[in-house]
Amino acid sequence: MTDKTPSIHGEWSSRFAFILAATGSAVGLGNIWKFPYITGQNGGGAFVMVYLICVAAIGIPIMIAEIMLGRRGRQSPINTMQTLAAEARVDPRWGYLGLMGMIAGFLILAYYSVIAGWAMAYIFKAFFGGFFGTDGNEVKEIFDNLMASPIQQIFWHTVFIFITMQVVIRGVKGGLEKAVRFLMPALFVILIVLVAYAMASGYYAQGIHFLFSPDFSKITADAVLTAMGHAFFTLSLGMGAIMVYGSYLPGHVSIAKTTFFIAGADTAVALLAGIAIFPLVFANQLEVATGPGLIFQTLPLAFGHMSGGWLFGVLFFVLLFFAALTSSISLIEPTVAWLVENKNIDRQKACAWSGTACWGLGVAVVFSFNIWSDFKIFDKNLFELLDYLTANLMLPLGGLCIAVFAGWMMKQAHAEQELELPAQGFQAWQFLIKYVAPAAVFIVFLHVLGVL
Ligand code: PHE
Ligand code: NA
Repeated sequence: MTDKTPSIHGEWSSRFAFILAATGSAVGLGNIWKFPYITGQNGGGAFVMVYLICVAAIGIPIMIAEIMLGRRGRQSPINTMQTLAAEARVDPRWGYLGLMGMIAGFLILAYYSVIAGWAMAYIFKAFFGGFFGTDGNEVKEIFDNLMASPIQQIFWHTVFIFITMQVVIRGVKGGLEKAVRFLMPALFVILIVLVAYAMASGYYAQGIHFLFSPDFSKITADAVLTAMGHAFFTLSLGMGAIMVYGSYLPGHVSIAKTTFFIAGADTAVALLAGIAIFPLVFANQLEVATGPGLIFQTLPLAFGHMSGGWLFGVLFFVLLFFAALTSSISLIEPTVAWLVENKNIDRQKACAWSGTACWGLGVAVVFSFNIWSDFKIFDKNLFELLDYLTANLMLPLGGLCIAVFAGWMMKQAHAEQELELPAQGFQAWQFLIKYVAPAAVFIVFLHVLGVL
C-alpha cells in the first residue's frame, strides 16, 4: 500500500518538503515560550536533564512510530488507525486513539492561538519602539497591561486563528514549504544574536549553571511528568499531527533519519532560547518562576538595550509568529482531514467549523488571564487546566498507545519494511518502542497518581 495509494489530501513534493513541514510543526511556542518558563518553574538543570532524556528515549522512537503509522495508513489519524487495526486484525477501537488526538490538538490550538496572539501584539510594541531603554519594571508593566486587556488579546487571537485557517484551507503544500524554508535559518540566526547578547550580560555563567547543573532535590513526580509531557508537546507527538503529516509522505523516505533531524533542530532551538533568556533573568533580578510571561518580560529588555535592538525585536516576534503558525496548522490538520473524509464536506467548510469552535474556546482562555483568573478547578485556571490536560496527560497517553500499537499490535515485518533500517537500528527501535517508552510513561503516570 505504501507507494500506490497517495493520500486524497495531497502529498509532499519531496522528502525535504516533509522535513520542513514536520520541523515547522515541532519548532514553535513550545521551544521559545514554554520550555524556558516551565524550566524556570521546575528548578532548572534537573528538569532539563529529564526532558532531554525523554526526548531521546521516548520522543524519538515514538516519532519514528507515529510517522510510520501515518505513512502506512495514508488517512486522517482516526481512519489510519482503523485501517491499520484491521490490517493487524486487532480491535477497531484503536480508532479512538485518533479521536483523542484530534481533541487534544483542538484543545491545544485554543490556547496556543492566544499565546501566538501575544507574540503578534509584541511585534507592534517592538515596532513602535516600546522597549527602548526599558527596565524590568516597565517591561513587566507592558506585559501586565496586555494581560489585563481581554479586548487586545481577543483581537490578536482572532487574527491568528483566521490566518491559521486561511493556510489550512489551501492544503498541506501551499505556502507552508516556503515559509519554513526561510523561517528556520532566520530563527537560528536571531537566537544566536540573543545568545551573544546574553553572553555579554555578565550573568551568562549563572544562566548556564541554572540550565545545566542538575539538582535532583528540586524534582518532584509532577516535575517529571511536566518534563515528559513537554517532550511530547515540543515534538508534536501523541496527537496525530506528525501522523497526518506522515500520511502525506511518499514511500522510500528514511523515516529514522528524518526524525533525528527534526528532533535535533527542535532541541537546539529550545536550548538556545533557554541560554538566551536565563542570563537576562539573573541580570535583571527577575523571578525564574515568572510563568507564561517569562519571555515577554525578559527578551524586550535585550531588545531595548542592544544595538540594532529595534530591528532584532521586530524580527524576533515576527519569526515567533511564523513559528507558531507552522505549528498551529498541524494542530488542526487532523480534525480538518477527518471532517473532509468522514463528514463529506470540503476543506473550506471543515476549516470554518473547526476554526470557529477553537476560536470560542480561545476567548474563554483569554478570560482566564484576567476576568476569570480566580475561577479555578484543581487549583488551575482554564489556561493551566487545558495545558495540563493536553501536554501532561493526553499527549503521553496518546504516545503510549502509539508505542503499544507499533511495537505489539502491528506485524513487525510490516514495521521493518516501512522503516528500512539496518538490523541493529531496527532492534534498537523495537526495544525502545516495546519496552522503554511504554514503561516510562506508565511509571510516571503511576507516580503522579501516587500509586508508586
Ligand atoms: N510542537 C509545537 C511546539 O513546540 C506544539 C505542537 C504540539 C504542535 C502538538 C503540534 C502538535 O510549539
Ligand atoms: Na517544539
